[in-house]
Amino acid sequence: MLKIVQTTPYTDQKMGTAGLRKKSKVATQENYLENFIQSIFNAIGGVEGKVFILGGDGRYFNKVAIQKILKMAAANGMKKMIVGQNGFMSTPASSRILLQNHADGGFVLSASHNPGGINGDFGIKYAVASGGQCPTAISDQIYENSKQISEYKILETADIDLSKLGTQKLENMEIEVIDPVNEYVQMMEEIFDFAAIKKLFASGFRFVFDAMNAVTGPYAQKIFEEILGAPKGSVVNYVPLEDFGGLHPDPNLIYAKDLVNLMYSSDAPDMGAANDGDGDRNMILGKSFFVTPSDSLAILTDNYKYIPAYKNGIFGVAKSAATSTAVARVAKALNIGYYEVPTGWKYFCNLMDSQRITFCGEESFGTGSSHIREKDGIWAVLFWLNIVAATGESIEEITRRHWQKYGRSYYMRNDYEGIDPQVANQLMADLEQKLPDLKGMSFNGFTIKEAVPFIYNDPVDGSSTKNGLIVYFTDQSRIVYRLSGTGTNGATLRVYLERYERERFDEDMILMLNGLAQVSRVIAEIPARTGKTKADVLT
Ligand code: G1P
Ligand code: ZN
Repeated sequence: MLKIVQTTPYTDQKMGTAGLRKKSKVATQENYLENFIQSIFNAIGGVEGKVFILGGDGRYFNKVAIQKILKMAAANGMKKMIVGQNGFMSTPASSRILLQNHADGGFVLSASHNPGGINGDFGIKYAVASGGQCPTAISDQIYENSKQISEYKILETADIDLSKLGTQKLENMEIEVIDPVNEYVQMMEEIFDFAAIKKLFASGFRFVFDAMNAVTGPYAQKIFEEILGAPKGSVVNYVPLEDFGGLHPDPNLIYAKDLVNLMYSSDAPDMGAANDGDGDRNMILGKSFFVTPSDSLAILTDNYKYIPAYKNGIFGVAKSAATSTAVARVAKALNIGYYEVPTGWKYFCNLMDSQRITFCGEESFGTGSSHIREKDGIWAVLFWLNIVAATGESIEEITRRHWQKYGRSYYMRNDYEGIDPQVANQLMADLEQKLPDLKGMSFNGFTIKEAVPFIYNDPVDGSSTKNGLIVYFTDQSRIVYRLSGTGTNGATLRVYLERYERERFDEDMILMLNGLAQVSRVIAEIPARTGKTKADVLT
């Protein structure tokens, strides 16, 4: 039965870098989710006759939210919803399925790498027909709608069984339950040389993949163990749990601790990898060796010829401004297009749609290509496996060969967390004011060449976005400052440090960047304004 529910607006439903992300306790408030979903429906001119995708990373509140969304979709006259079996769908799989089905949009219920559970985070990402997350112009309209909403539509009916594959009806709406794993596996088989990777595993190459108790477990087991023949047990933490087993499902040196310890032990496998909560981030490790995401993007780009889907040539490459400049040197050598965009995957999408780029990546453990419009964790792992299989080199050898050829960017991100938002905004505003005066000044032996806000003018839709402040030094070092757009706890100031070296490849990362880190604190007056004399998290 159709029910029209009267509601009052929440004032905080503004999307950040990647969708709406809130504490579970906020997202589970009465009508909170319903308001947001109805605001999306309203902002896009309704959903009548349209087809959408729905799934999530299985975190707490997903099951409830999926039922609500289905009932609201049917009540609003949606034609069809394609849903992942039991409500599960990784972010990369959702993008593939959206594109394959020419759907009008999609909903992925995930707060990505943020912890889950009642005390963790919940999130909703909304994608548009191009397969990527909605552009700011649309999220602004959704936000406006959410501030004025007075009612939403929902069906009063029993919950829908999403365990069986196939089609069913909810009033006039068709619900198709699909297996996203199969769709995704097929896509990977089209891109990579599975036969070569199979041979690699058959030769005894030891590999471990940490799914971090999140959505990629079933994908990884199917691809790495069942199809490619890695021994059973190569995929660990493969059962998706509502609270990720208490883990923080972020594949980096801090949160993927067990994997990192194993990879730095005397019994380390040849390669280790991990993905985040919704499967779009990746971390790559060799034996006692860590590949920074910025290097990974540069190395994958430089080795594109080993991959069947790319061997005939690639378009350009793009990175977020905060990501190290390693890939810029590769783009120059390959003579392909090169773009720097604001932080957030959505900024790559126009460049992919217009065939300006094939690969793109961010320092935050995100790498991907134009096969979909989201970053793709397993894709990156397969890319590395394919290079290892083709070259016979180890992860470390491949990386060192890269540094020999191009030099090395020592690179790190310093996060100052839990800052009072007002203090953080003021810090950024004041820093921006004084940027022009910094030119020519020297600190700790680093001389500033130029200091400017980062402004991106999209070559496709003409939109202009300001995201962060960049300080360039005369020795090619850089500092980038920006505020996080995904946090749910006060403000996080991110400071990205980069220093380029042509000859010294074996220095300690922290030591190499210590001087620059001090400079970054002095320039932005971080200790005086935040009370913090060092960063809370280094990645
Ligand atoms: C963070 C990362 C960014 C990434 C986003 C979504 O956003 O820095 O690269 O696209 O998560 O995964 P931020 O919190 O910095 O706004
Ligand atoms: Zn993610």
